Amino acid sequence: MLIDGDKLKINMEEWKSMLDDVFGPIIATLQEIMHNKKQITGKCTYLSLVGGLAESSYFQARMEEEFGLKSKYGLSIIVPKRPILSVVEGAAWFGAETIRTLSESISATFKAIVGLDFGTDGIGIAYGIGDKMFIHSGWESEKYARRTKRRTIILLDQNNDVAGFGMDGKETYLDLEEGANDWKLFENFKMQLYPEDHSGKDGKIVIRDLLTAANRAKFPSELIWIEVFKHINKLVTKYINEQAKVTTKGEIQWVISVPAIWNDDAKEKMKQWARRAGLVKRHLPNQCHIVYESDCAVLGMLSAAHDANDVEFKQNDKFMVIDAGGATVDFSCQKLCDQYENIGDYETEEIIFPSGGPWGSVHIDSRFIELLGEIFSKEWMDEFRIKLPHSFVDLKRLFQEAKEFFYKNKEDETHNCKLPMDFIEFMSEKFEAKCEDEDDEDENDLDDFIGDKAVMGHEELICLEYIQNTLNELNHVV
Ligand SMILES: Nc1ncnc2c1ncn2[C@@H]1O[C@H](COP(=O)(O)OP(=O)(O)OP(=O)(O)O)[C@@H](O)[C@H]1O
Ligand SMILES: [Mg+2]
Repeated sequence: MLIDGDKLKINMEEWKSMLDDVFGPIIATLQEIMHNKKQITGKCTYLSLVGGLAESSYFQARMEEEFGLKSKYGLSIIVPKRPILSVVEGAAWFGAETIRTLSESISATFKAIVGLDFGTDGIGIAYGIGDKMFIHSGWESEKYARRTKRRTIILLDQNNDVAGFGMDGKETYLDLEEGANDWKLFENFKMQLYPEDHSGKDGKIVIRDLLTAANRAKFPSELIWIEVFKHINKLVTKYINEQAKVTTKGEIQWVISVPAIWNDDAKEKMKQWARRAGLVKRHLPNQCHIVYESDCAVLGMLSAAHDANDVEFKQNDKFMVIDAGGATVDFSCQKLCDQYENIGDYETEEIIFPSGGPWGSVHIDSRFIELLGEIFSKEWMDEFRIKLPHSFVDLKRLFQEAKEFFYKNKEDETHNCKLPMDFIEFMSEKFEAKCEDEDDEDENDLDDFIGDKAVMGHEELICLEYIQNTLNELNHVV
């Protein structure tokens, strides 16, 4: 392909500083927990990292450096093979009484167990059918099919019918003609359920009744969740029928994970919404379990360690688990009560109530947008976002891809981030207009302009590669 976007070459130090802005508070909070709760975390042997951020090689390296075997905490760090899926895998395992009796327990009443992880950033689905466990991978999107979790986004049309789901819903919304402003896009709506004042009874939160769409319209939370459940039900039924060749006729056991700080009313609401969406039948006991994400994260981690056969847990072993996701990071500490031979024997005891904070991976994306604002100016970035919203979404997607591969090779001096061609053209035009306005004949290369910039107090950390070649090619094609 002739025009294939371009690359921003970013020095490793700049990358590290972007990521450390988010990792810093996570490390400080864990140090504080280990220090203040020494009497309970004492003799804690393991630190397990789960959630999307735990996929990051740099995050793993930082945690090893601060808390690993060679640090003063001396913890064994455990990262499951697919940490982003630990919660949803744990949710699915919850449905079965034991791994060994998985097929018996299902066949007793249900044909399949479905675990749902409603993350702030993404929704994960895991299936337990027969004695097999597998992850939903059939997200019906061409552009975003690579993802293991679907983005937590829903679009409603003017009749409040679902017009799109995930990133496809967002793209449809961005394509709307002006005047279609009664369509409602809900992004990160799980986060919106949290009230500003988090201090409910027993430190638990009472979730909000109304959610706000991108056009500022308010909409009842329950209607959004019911629509989401209906959509998932259709998707799951089709997937099970096609992939496992099982006709479920609704005989699915649902295990839905929620944050540990939700109170009992919030959990009950979730169950009611699942019932109203037709997932759960009143006459079937045990058809729906609402479980805590922190407990699922532990179970997901234990099952992954069990499968990999790389850790031998013993009775009374204590482990900290960090679920570092898209928007939030949760810390919990549990103890293994029984001698551990099979996941089925697993019984743990919570020794610290889960706590957390807003330090997920999307905050790294925001840091990158800030960095571009420092290079090109905040005004140009704001204008770009408003005038070319699709390209702005693409810019973030390309950054996320670059972020996911950062630090795979520790020896690299730089790590590139591709940029959409629209972005480069837009900034080139802005830059040319600026030079003309200022009658500046000396400065005429956008890559020089970028190379000279000090960002976040550092110089010569960023440059734009091959831009001139690609622009020449572009001009040639036009
Ligand atoms: N290798 C990686 N490095 C850094 N971030 C990553 C990597 N892989 C995935 N992510 C990020 O992980 C995030 C998604 O993580 P996850 O699915 O655990 O979040 P979530 O469960 O939706 O959110 P939360 O748990 O906060 O409600 C995305 O922001 C994605 O960019
Ligand atoms: Mg999560």
